[in-house]
Amino acid sequence: MSEFFSGLTGMRILSLDCPAEELSPGDLIHLETPINPTGTAVSIEALAQKAHSRGAFLLVDSTFAPPPLQDPFAHGTDIVMHSSTKYIGGHSDMLGGVLCVRNNYAGIPNNGAKIAEKLRHERLLIGGVMGSLELWLGLRSLRTLNLRVSRASNNATSLVAWLNSTITPTSPIAEVHHASLQAEKNPEDKQWLAKQMPNGFGSVFSITLRNKRMARWLPSKLELFHHATSLGTVESLIEWRAMTDARADERLLRVSVGCEDWRDLQLDLERGLKEVEGFEEK
Ligand SMILES: Cc1ncc(COP(=O)(O)O)c(C=O)c1O
Repeated sequence: MSEFFSGLTGMRILSLDCPAEELSPGDLIHLETPINPTGTAVSIEALAQKAHSRGAFLLVDSTFAPPPLQDPFAHGTDIVMHSSTKYIGGHSDMLGGVLCVRNNYAGIPNNGAKIAEKLRHERLLIGGVMGSLELWLGLRSLRTLNLRVSRASNNATSLVAWLNSTITPTSPIAEVHHASLQAEKNPEDKQWLAKQMPNGFGSVFSITLRNKRMARWLPSKLELFHHATSLGTVESLIEWRAMTDARADERLLRVSVGCEDWRDLQLDLERGLKEVEGFEEK
């Protein structure tokens, strides 16, 4: 994918952990946190410092942690992006995106409105204008954003804790990945994570099963989780990741938890996992 963009524009793409010295004024760090598909987080503040030390900017794709979970501006971000197809819409019925610019973009006081105007003008010329029905659906959904996101976040954290507690050397689940387990696994992340996500973690997490066959079949054994690629909706989704991403571990499933009662989701997973536990790789 990155070759595709650089081929069109000649843009040079560096890795996120490149030395700060490789950045120049006007460069953009594009950070997604929490990360797809694991749901683990990256320090926004550390990357804001790195970008600003070289006159570069930081954009955070905060799709996986919408309000009230994360405020990237509070940690030095210049531009915040959301796929509003996900939590902002929240009902699998619209496509859209949101870009927000801080009011002292690039350290210049009160210039947010000017930058926003420039972005609107570009949108007009490029034609990425949202349909009025999508816009209406998105605005209506904003009224329940906090309720939905908080509920899904609590649901996911409860499920993650339970799934993690079921791991044994022979259990179908080999590993669970989520920001709620991150501080335990990497104690050095504890402090910034508590500051960055003070109201809970995202509702996407992933699980690694013992083998590919278990991972391929588990979604079809579940009744409350739809097997689908999207995320951030009121209904829970599960995806065998290798189906859409050829680079993914073939034992990995991504879960996007919705607003159901988490104990119903737990029972569904418990039953589904029992059905695949004897599956061996052919
Ligand atoms: C983190 C993130 N950003 C952006 C997008 C693109 O969103 P859209 O489907 O609204 O184009 C996605 C889609 O999955 C995503 O996961």
